[in-house]
Amino acid sequence: MTPTSLATPRSRILSGMRPTGKLHLGNYMGALANWVKLQDDYECYFFIADLHALTTDYADPSQIAPNTLEVAFEYLAAGLDPARCTIFVQSHVSQHYQLPLLLGMITPKGWLERVPSYKEMQENLAHKDLTMFGFLGYPVLMASDILLYQAHYVPVGQDQQAHVELTREVARRFNNFYKLDGKEVLPEPDVLLTPSPKLPGTDGRKMSKSYGNTILMIDPEPVVRQKLKTMVTDPARIRRTDPGDPDKCPVGDLHKVFSAPETMAKVYGGCRSAGIGCIECKSWVVNALVQILEPIHARRASLTESRVMEILQDGSRRAGARAEQTMEQVRAAMQLPILTPPLAGAYGVLGNTIRRSTIAESARPPGSDDLESR
Ligand code: TRP
Ligand code: SF4
Repeated sequence: MTPTSLATPRSRILSGMRPTGKLHLGNYMGALANWVKLQDDYECYFFIADLHALTTDYADPSQIAPNTLEVAFEYLAAGLDPARCTIFVQSHVSQHYQLPLLLGMITPKGWLERVPSYKEMQENLAHKDLTMFGFLGYPVLMASDILLYQAHYVPVGQDQQAHVELTREVARRFNNFYKLDGKEVLPEPDVLLTPSPKLPGTDGRKMSKSYGNTILMIDPEPVVRQKLKTMVTDPARIRRTDPGDPDKCPVGDLHKVFSAPETMAKVYGGCRSAGIGCIECKSWVVNALVQILEPIHARRASLTESRVMEILQDGSRRAGARAEQTMEQVRAAMQLPILTPPLAGAYGVLGNTIRRSTIAESARPPGSDDLESR
């Protein structure tokens, strides 16, 4: 799929991350670096999904706020620019509490139980009791995040694709039930699949916080150097004189992601002929990483906590204004009572629907509640 060729210049994009604390190179390459590129071509909303963290960390939420601030720092350090995109915290935008309730009314329970991550996460986090309504409803929360901005595209990795697919199904179901002036309210979003290169951690497995094998975005050069030193290599290269193969070496995989073609040529040639040692080879990876990390560290150092707070407040205000536009359409399509001043003037407090039921009520004996309208 080549969405840029299909999209109008300012299609809307939304994406977010859970506040997991310090981000690593996998987060950067798999998401942030891509978001940074998108902010010029799309109307972008990037948020920190702190309410999502509550679905698993409800019993001890103490880390959610500090982690949220940390992730905000790192969004900005990575190069998200509040002048070109909207950056916000999910829990700061009250519409994120509203739409999930309404979409929950029409989302079949079976759809949620069938989401692959549901069983998986319950098994992976067996030490936590995840038999909660909120955890089951997590995909509704995510669908709401996306649909609140009537987003056209959602840049995510493969692991989130099923959730966007469910979002499309929820939107379709909503549009089938409700229309506004004959028109559909919630567009079905498309995945903008993030090209995510295979990024190994220091132990050779996929880089992941839960494996403890990460290189962090904020790691200073000496720490990166130290982590590389202990990184596993092609097991065939036991002695310096043994030839190896970069295609069988996690360090080689890092080179493929970060190193220039000239370096790559030296790595392939030197490794296969045993002309270079792993220590030298690793030092070239460090050089490439430092080049990427340097501007990130510089931007991070230039940020103060109060500036970050200010950016988040401004972003949450902008996001809230956009989300409210959608909510107004959603409420109207679902025929919920709307405060409309002209009617309020004539009939007391509320508009259409309430007015109707108030009149009906006064014409009926008390206790004969009108259940048909529910
Ligand atoms: N579920 C995503 C994750 O775990 C985070 C997320 C929440 C998200 N809401 C979203 C991503 C909306 C894209 C769009 O990483
Ligand atoms: Fe890996 Fe480089 Fe050593 Fe080859 S020389 S085994 S690519 S670290």
